[in-house]
Amino acid sequence: MPRFEPHPQRRPALVTGASSGIGAATAVLLAAAGHPVALGARRTDRCEDLAETIRKDGGEVFTHPLDVSDSGSVERFVSAAAGALGEPEIVVSGAGDLGAERVHELASEDFAAQLQVHLVGAHRLVSRVVPGMVARGRGDVVLVSSDVVRAPRTRMGAYVAAKNGVEGMARALQMELEGTGVRISVVRPGPTMTGMGMGWDAETTGEVLEEWVRWGLARHPYFLRAEDVAAVIAAVVAAPRGTHLTLVEVQPEAAVAKPAAARSGPASASEAAGAAATGPDSPAVSGREEGR
Ligand SMILES: NC(=O)c1ccc[n+]([C@@H]2O[C@H](COP(=O)([O-])OP(=O)(O)OC[C@H]3O[C@@H](n4cnc5c(N)ncnc54)[C@H](OP(=O)(O)O)[C@@H]3O)[C@@H](O)[C@H]2O)c1
Repeated sequence: MPRFEPHPQRRPALVTGASSGIGAATAVLLAAAGHPVALGARRTDRCEDLAETIRKDGGEVFTHPLDVSDSGSVERFVSAAAGALGEPEIVVSGAGDLGAERVHELASEDFAAQLQVHLVGAHRLVSRVVPGMVARGRGDVVLVSSDVVRAPRTRMGAYVAAKNGVEGMARALQMELEGTGVRISVVRPGPTMTGMGMGWDAETTGEVLEEWVRWGLARHPYFLRAEDVAAVIAAVVAAPRGTHLTLVEVQPEAAVAKPAAARSGPASASEAAGAAATGPDSPAVSGREEGR
């Protein structure tokens, strides 16, 4: 007799923020892994396009409008998805947006709006889906956080506050849900090339990057791809029953430097180090580079 029942064959998944970036990539991967997926976001046309692709690849998919800052919208999304695909076994909270204002220059209404989406939005989802999961004795909820919780960045004060709130809420939930079979997991991505921050103008982007470099927050310019983070989320929910990946931070790898011996150039170690910092293999911190 196993200590834990294995995951059921059919595990419907809800993904918020599915119209773009990490949410969209996660939906594609979960569908490819055989999960029926419900896509939720405000830009339903983008979700429909993604659903078409998933269907063509043989996946089962459902789309419904969703605004996580509205409790009624969350209720309608979850109910419609459960009606179409079955009760959710997997929920990924990926909806989010980002401003670039300094805390003291941000109107309190705009500060609160970011908390509404990232933190209260995640709570709306959790409070709607977790009671059913507890009753069934199983379920996976992945809350997408950010490495800003470990290393706060300038120009993101509301976002930093919201993500700290998400992780605090997640930890309390993990304690409250111990022994219920429901796994709350935090996935904490580092810089990822998505739609996030793409609305900033070039001047703001330049200023923000310079500030991050000044604070030692941009060690190299390589970004994760959305599908890299999605792969981690898919692994978290695929972890066998009896294990719980409570917090996973995902960072982009730096480019692999060629060993000095493999180059015909510098002979000494110090010359090699200098070349690595400035030579053709070195990434220039001049802006966003996908790096692969
Ligand atoms: N990109 C990064 O470097 C990075 C790093 C760490 C953590 N993250 C986190 O990763 C998650 C996904 O972001 P992303 O990077 O993939 O950015 P993205 O490409 O901009 O995607 C954000 C998604 O959230 C949705 N969304 C925004 N407001 C919403 C609302 N009120 N209701 C429902 N959906 C909403 C957007 O859809 P609609 O606009 O269509 O509603 C979109 O699908 C976020 O939680 C973000 O904080 C990102």
